[in-house]
Amino acid sequence: MNREQDPASRPLRSYVIRQGRLSKGQKRGLLDVLPQFQFPESSLSSPQQAFKNEQPLILEIGFGMGDSLAEMAAAAPGHNFLGLEVHAPGVGHLMIEAERLHLENLRVMNVDVWSVLPHLPTHSLAGLQVFFPDPWHKKRHHKRRLVNSDFLKTAALKLQGDGVLHIATDWQPYAEQIIELIETQSDLEFCTPPARVQTKYERRGLRLGHDVTDIAVTKTAKH
Ligand SMILES: C[S@@+](CC[C@H](N)C(=O)[O-])C[C@H]1O[C@@H](n2cnc3c(N)ncnc32)[C@H](O)[C@@H]1O
Repeated sequence: MNREQDPASRPLRSYVIRQGRLSKGQKRGLLDVLPQFQFPESSLSSPQQAFKNEQPLILEIGFGMGDSLAEMAAAAPGHNFLGLEVHAPGVGHLMIEAERLHLENLRVMNVDVWSVLPHLPTHSLAGLQVFFPDPWHKKRHHKRRLVNSDFLKTAALKLQGDGVLHIATDWQPYAEQIIELIETQSDLEFCTPPARVQTKYERRGLRLGHDVTDIAVTKTAKH
């Protein structure tokens, strides 16, 4: 792992690890269920081998409590889903759902995206989803935002020719920043956002009266 790719050496993290007690269910999810859904680090260079069937792979970054990811995976058995989340209670919660729904097309890792994304093969993702990344409202924190030009460049490399990067946010200034960044990146072009499931954080934003923006891009050079 070189310095650029090692999350520990990145100047700022896009998250703060929140302490908080694990519920009994989340603890069981992490201890008893996670082993059967864990994506092994050894499969990063060949991600399909971690799944039962070889089929288009969707990566979701920051799934939170994971209910929307579980719902999407259950509704799309012809796709494989890899979910990444640094917040352990969310991983535990998703595990309980994954067990209940018998999801054979879902794998997860309780890690920072930067310890995964750079190691996936180029052109390996049919989709990359980032739903409601932490908005980091204050100007001095903007440099912590996950979606920056470094992220967009890496995402473009990992997407298949017709793969789609789908970002949703309820924070208008962040949406504007993302759109501006994409406009300066010649290897990405806007496309119609795919349908998706409403997320927990999205419901919170809507209760607060926020507008939600969905941004989707595909690659300009389709190879
Ligand atoms: C605002 S929450 C949204 C959660 C969920 N997508 C939703 O819409 O309900 C953002 C999530 O991204 C996760 N996150 C932030 N930076 C991350 C990173 N570098 N790698 C993995 N997860 C990350 C956070 O822990 C948090 O759970």
